[in-house]
Amino acid sequence: MKPVAIAPNIYWVGAIDWDIRDFHGYSTYEGSTYNAFLIIDEKVTLIDTVKKSHISELLHRIRNIIDPKKIDYIVVNHVEMDHSGALPEMMKIIEPEKVICSKMGHKALLQHFHKADWPFEIAESDSEISLGEKTLSFLETRMLHWPDSMFTYVKEDKILFSSDAFGQHLASSERFDGEVNQAELMHQSAKYYANILTLYSPVVQKLLAKVNEMGLEINMIAPDHGILWRDNPGQILEAYDKWSRHEADGSALVIYDTMWHSTEMMAKAVADGINDEGVSVQLINLRTNHRSDVMTKVLTASAIALGCSTLNNGLLPRMAGFLMYMRGLKPTNKIGAAFGSYGWSGEAVKLLNEAMEGMKLEIVDPGVRIKYVPEHDNLTECVELGRKIGKAVKAKTV
Ligand code: FEO
Repeated sequence: MKPVAIAPNIYWVGAIDWDIRDFHGYSTYEGSTYNAFLIIDEKVTLIDTVKKSHISELLHRIRNIIDPKKIDYIVVNHVEMDHSGALPEMMKIIEPEKVICSKMGHKALLQHFHKADWPFEIAESDSEISLGEKTLSFLETRMLHWPDSMFTYVKEDKILFSSDAFGQHLASSERFDGEVNQAELMHQSAKYYANILTLYSPVVQKLLAKVNEMGLEINMIAPDHGILWRDNPGQILEAYDKWSRHEADGSALVIYDTMWHSTEMMAKAVADGINDEGVSVQLINLRTNHRSDVMTKVLTASAIALGCSTLNNGLLPRMAGFLMYMRGLKPTNKIGAAFGSYGWSGEAVKLLNEAMEGMKLEIVDPGVRIKYVPEHDNLTECVELGRKIGKAVKAKTV
């Protein structure tokens, strides 16, 4: 459990969570890390802490460098418990001179830990503090992704400590972008954006514009989860620009759940029709795909066709849950269509259309409903629906 030097007198002292597989509903098959950083200067400074369960790892890494009691300042970039859960215990051990946080961070820390006597110092946006050799400047990043979120920038080393932004849930023995599989790194970054930040895309756009306008030179981006962007920080900035503009890739998804395979037969026919138009399509059964993996694909898809059987005048529970999840994340700039089989009442297609309208998807067809089990003509109707979706995708991507 060694610390890792990331710049002269700046160390990664965080924790690696190899075991976590669920992050409030987001599947983390590759674990995660809780990144914390120690700056050795006249004023020794700890940036963020870790999840409460991982405090011994944090302390062990710090003790390899310095006695924790010698830490003067703690910077809290983000109050969510995966970064502040260890804070109360660290406060007792360190007894720091200052706890530096945003205005909203101050409120949130009080509401989490109820310790009005902690030595808070509010960091205004663009304010600076000297640690001796190094200077920290602060940038409030409200709603990226909590009201309290802020970035801390070390001017001399040009390192941006970016809180949750630019992170990935990826446990590894490596700490830097150039040391890991690039496809896996970008996949995990996209999954993180899709499941945590899609809703805040307008805020991401404003932030990227502000960073440009400030002419902030960035040698390294150090998020609170996963790999640090040292070798190619431009790569993740470009990806965030593309994802936050909802840039679509010309592909389509057919996402469905089925009771007795009728809606599944329809889904396959819809996918065939999309593919007939030369559009790449993926068939996604909600029984076998986790909602957070589906959202990762939704992030860049141009079209989504939703299929569901009717159950008790409504939707199957997996589809209802997925729609609730997707609606919260507000993906935009997509074409939509619905289909489904039913026995007598048949509300599913109407409900799917209403959900897509609520998300401002561009619905290209009223949808296809089929009673009980589809036969050849019914499946042909589904292929036609697919073709219509495929044509709409092509028209939009030309
Ligand atoms: Fe990683 Fe919003 O906490």
